[in-house]
Formats: sequence, C-alpha cells, structure tokens
Amino acid sequence: MSTQTIPTVDKKRITTQTLQEMKADRIPIAMLTAYDYTTARILDGAGIDVLLVGDSASNVMAGNETTLPMTLDHMIYHAQCVVRAVQRALVVVDLPFGSYQGNTKEALVSAIRVMKEAGAHAIKMEGGAPIIEAVERIITAGIPVMGHLGLTPQSIYRFGTYKVRAREEEEAEQLKRDARLLEEAGCFAMVLEKIPATLAAEVSASISIPTIGIGAGVACDGQVLVTHDALGFTTDFNPRFVRHYAELAETITDAVQHYIDDVRTRSFPSESESY
Ligand code: KIV
Repeated sequence: MSTQTIPTVDKKRITTQTLQEMKADRIPIAMLTAYDYTTARILDGAGIDVLLVGDSASNVMAGNETTLPMTLDHMIYHAQCVVRAVQRALVVVDLPFGSYQGNTKEALVSAIRVMKEAGAHAIKMEGGAPIIEAVERIITAGIPVMGHLGLTPQSIYRFGTYKVRAREEEEAEQLKRDARLLEEAGCFAMVLEKIPATLAAEVSASISIPTIGIGAGVACDGQVLVTHDALGFTTDFNPRFVRHYAELAETITDAVQHYIDDVRTRSFPSESESY
C-alpha cells in the first residue's frame, strides 16, 4: 500500500465557534462529504473546514436511489471511519430518515448514539418547524445541531422531484420563518439546498449563524458538495450546481486499464517488485 503525501495546513481544530467567527470575518466555509477513512484523511489533510458524513452515502456508497434506506447503524459506521481519520475538520453527521421524526425522545437518543458511538462533533437534521422541538431537545443536551432547509432529500417522496425549492412566495416565506426558528433554537449553522440564489442571500444576511449552500448561490457563508460529484467519481449526475475539480472516474479507468494490460503482458510485477 502506498503512503499518502498530505500537504501541511494549519492544524488548529475547527469548532462550531470557528465557523461563527468565519461568518463574522466573511471567510467562506468549505465543506465536503466523507464516508470512509482514506478519503477523509486526504480531505482533512488538504484543509477542508467541515466534513459531512452525509446520508448521501446511501446514493454514492450503497447505490440506492434515495437517502431513505440509511439506518442509524449505517451512519454510525461511516462516521466512525471518518472520525478516525480527522485531525482538524469539524465532523458533522446526518441523522438518517426515521431516526428523529417520530418523537423528541427518539431524536435525542439517536443524536446521543451518533456522538457517543462515533465520536462525531455535531449532527445535521433536515426540516424546519415540524422538527423544532427535537432540535431544541438535542441542543439542550449539549449536542450541536446543523439545520438543513430547501431541498431536503429525506422528503423526496413528498416533493416528488429534485427540482429547485422555494421559487414561489409562500414556500420562500416558510423557509425564511424556518431559518429564524432554527437560529432561535440554537443551531450553529444550516445547509440551504437548491433554492434561488436571491433567497439564500436574503436568509444569509438576516441570520447570525452561517449558511452553507449547495445549489444556493455564492452569497451563502460557505459551500458544500458531495465529494464524489466534485471529484468526478460520479459521471451520470450533472446538475448545474456541481463543479468537477477532478475527473477521477476517467483517471481510475485509465489506471485500471493500464494495470490489466500490465498483468496480461506479464510486465507486472517486475523483478524489483518481486521477492
Ligand atoms: O447527505 C448529504 O450529502 C447532504 C449534503 C447534500 C448537504 O446532506
């Protein structure tokens, strides 16, 4: 196995407080998803601020169509792998569908399991008013919560599509109310997913906690992408908001074809690669 070369970055740990200071200082927050030790180690070494153990693991790790099949045990497993790798980034873990919507006690028990069993630093929950009591109860127990408004993939069967949310006045007003509720409940930050850039800008300017956008324009206090999309692992998912910073599917395909070729022609292993 090869050793990784990891660039040196400021090793000071990122905390929820750091993110609030970054908003105050107008320094944009960079967040990516991570689900495994090796990738998390590279992203952390590169200097990412926040690693989200997202329930998007359901899509990119497990090949499911939606995030709904993820269980609390799945999330804890992925979170344990990521936490082991990280020295600097804040590790935020999604509470999966069905682990917090039932009642506030169940929500608290789920959040405590993620913090205790995985060593996570914070959790993320999707939704506004309907989950506000659960959010408050978890924060009261000392667990930092990141909110998530706009396109909330756990509600995909209610929405019916992955189209941009809150284009209409009524939904935009509800989203603004939800953002204020989450701020008042004590959330340390919130994701705004796939909403008009003007609405995200208005929300970001009107609340004191950082907003992290995905498909929500440049005025958010930070940005998040699914790592597998940003690095070009996924080739069949190309929404407007994804920018590819690498084409790893191509790089890996080329490398694997090269390896197959070397095996077939017996040019691998060489003498120096043998005992
Ligand atoms: O699960 C996830 O990856 C997410 C991001 C898209 C914000 O929630």
